[in-house]
Amino acid sequence: MSIEQLAETALAMVAPGKGIIAIDESTGTIAKRLSGVGVENTEENRRAYREMLLTTPKLGDYISGAILYDETLRQSTKDGVPFTKVMRDAGIIPGIKVDKSTHALAGFPGEVVTEGLDGLRERLKEYYGLGARFAKWRAVINIGEDIPSGTCIEANAHALARYAALCQEQGIVPMVEPEVLMDGDHDIETCYEVTEVTLRALFDALYNHNVMLEGTILKASMVLPGKDSGESASVEEVAEATLMCLKSAVPAILPGIVFLSGGQSDEDATAHLDAMNRMGPNPWPLSFSYGRAMQSAALELWSKDLAGNVGKAQDTVYARARDNGLAAQGRWDRAA
Ligand code: 13P
Repeated sequence: MSIEQLAETALAMVAPGKGIIAIDESTGTIAKRLSGVGVENTEENRRAYREMLLTTPKLGDYISGAILYDETLRQSTKDGVPFTKVMRDAGIIPGIKVDKSTHALAGFPGEVVTEGLDGLRERLKEYYGLGARFAKWRAVINIGEDIPSGTCIEANAHALARYAALCQEQGIVPMVEPEVLMDGDHDIETCYEVTEVTLRALFDALYNHNVMLEGTILKASMVLPGKDSGESASVEEVAEATLMCLKSAVPAILPGIVFLSGGQSDEDATAHLDAMNRMGPNPWPLSFSYGRAMQSAALELWSKDLAGNVGKAQDTVYARARDNGLAAQGRWDRAA
């Protein structure tokens, strides 16, 4: 696959005013989300919920791509239209989560490494055939006493680089996601340091594995104080710290950076993205790849009446997409 095609997909993912909706919860994670709103975790409920999201009218105005889970990539609307066709018709690029989740890193209590490299080449071939043009692999870095270790950062960076190289070999744009978790009582400076060292290790590994950055997208976590730190940081502080950290560790040739929401409130996730774009011009487009911050309000509404509330829930999805799309251009109006 040519680098031009990969670069074209990567640029389309971060087109001005557009971002990604992450709906790639594994069956275990979606079980938690559905039970949180009192909906049974059946295949049909998962399908109906994802159909509601993906058929939101005019979603493509602000959404360039959607990350799906294996099951969803193979599903169709209740009228039998494959989700991938619904997406293509709306101008939304199908993406696929390909990692097999985090597992305890042997010898390093409290730390995890992401698995899923075995057989990945064959799975990517199949996903390409099913229409996927970008993929996601999420590594998780925990902050705590004496962690993260250098070994954990290296192991995760190595896996991300091997995944990214395999994706590009198969014509799929790798979204590399090293998520530094918000959990913990650390301060914002600690989050900054851990994020910086993690990103440096990641870009070293990508370079060593001959990954073409022009055809790669970074999915980053923001630099925030730990959830249990009792510290609060202003929107400007978070935006400044995150931007400085990215500028120090991420090569300018990368086509774009999208953020995860990671448990921030919907409004915080939007406000932080908006503030970073207002502080531009930046070396790369900065946009979103939110899961919870795109879906939680819609999930709540949908759960109250399922089929009866599809229209209302879709209005909420559209509104979140619009707010985040405006924030991706530094044009969000909090009062609107
Ligand atoms: P959140 O925005 O809910 O953190 O999810 C994004 C995601 O895809 C994490 O891998």
